Amino acid sequence: MAPLEILARSTSIRSPPVSFQDTRVWNPQVTISNTVKYVPEWFPRASFEQKARGLRIKMTEDAYLVTKARLYLSGRGTATPSLTSFALEAIDHTQDVVEQEKFIKVASVGACLASSDTTVTALGAFIIAMEPEAQIKAHRELEKVLGPGDLPSFSDESTLPYITAIVREILRHHSVNPLGLPHLLIQDDIYEGCFLPKGSIVIANICEEEYLEPERFNPSRFLDSDGKLNPDVKDPATAFGFGRRPGKHVAIASLWIAVASILTCYTIESELDENEKPIKPKGEWYSGPTLLNRPLPFKCRVIPCSRDVEASLGASLS
Ligand code: HEM
Repeated sequence: MAPLEILARSTSIRSPPVSFQDTRVWNPQVTISNTVKYVPEWFPRASFEQKARGLRIKMTEDAYLVTKARLYLSGRGTATPSLTSFALEAIDHTQDVVEQEKFIKVASVGACLASSDTTVTALGAFIIAMEPEAQIKAHRELEKVLGPGDLPSFSDESTLPYITAIVREILRHHSVNPLGLPHLLIQDDIYEGCFLPKGSIVIANICEEEYLEPERFNPSRFLDSDGKLNPDVKDPATAFGFGRRPGKHVAIASLWIAVASILTCYTIESELDENEKPIKPKGEWYSGPTLLNRPLPFKCRVIPCSRDVEASLGASLS
């Protein structure tokens, strides 16, 4: 059995514990399913394996087939532009189409699974963290840059550094996936004098603690005295793990536009008790069998910033 090396350090990691090029993500499910596939179906709980296989096929095929049908069969090209639709349109018909389709399916379902829970978790952490001070600063910046009734767009990014700072602070303050994914060494390695044989499973501690007052949610830590992004303050990109990170740019863009849009339209306030006193969210996190550090449900009030927002919200709800 492969030795298990856990490199979880209480202090911050300035560089990856091992060169992550020499690893691959360790998937315990592969090991488990390789064993379970020999268990006969009548065996108690063995039908789980079959159910899981069915779900996996459904998950991989269904969305793909819907997109393909909308793109080619409807005759009207009704597919919403997406990773899947762009990849389908880019298929090289002079090459092996089945193989290309296989990659498109896996990439599409992988992106969907890897992005949904993580991004929603980060947005939950954002809502919990929204103290009045940060919101006042964000509202001021947004009002200065956007015209009345305008929603932010990616072209506003360079003029909204405080929004970018909020996104960095969300990723720094609340580690969505604090231990990343377990990695399996594909060759021997040495880390700080410690020999790690091929086959070891390495788990990195992603939590950043090299900032002043790390417990405090303070987006301004990423800005200089002129309110611009300070290149000398470390970008908490390790929130996405080490090496080439497939989803980092999609995730940061999704968080940025969501944070900018929410704060353009709303103020987030604590829920009130029966005496109209604010009840701060307890900041409790799900501690079940998951890799993600997800907030438990909490109550808050989402208050439209203007009558226009209220009216358009009313229209969209009706
Ligand atoms: C706030 C959002 C996100 C956070 C905090 C996050 C964080 C992480 C972390 C920590 C890992 C494990 C890295 C490792 O230990 O090797 C990971 C893996 C991964 N993420 Fe994300 N992620 C986010 C969003 C996304 C999005 C939007 C996508 C795709 C569009 C994505 C795709 C992936 C994939 C494919 C892997 C597995 C990579 C591999 O096999 O090496 N993630 N993510």
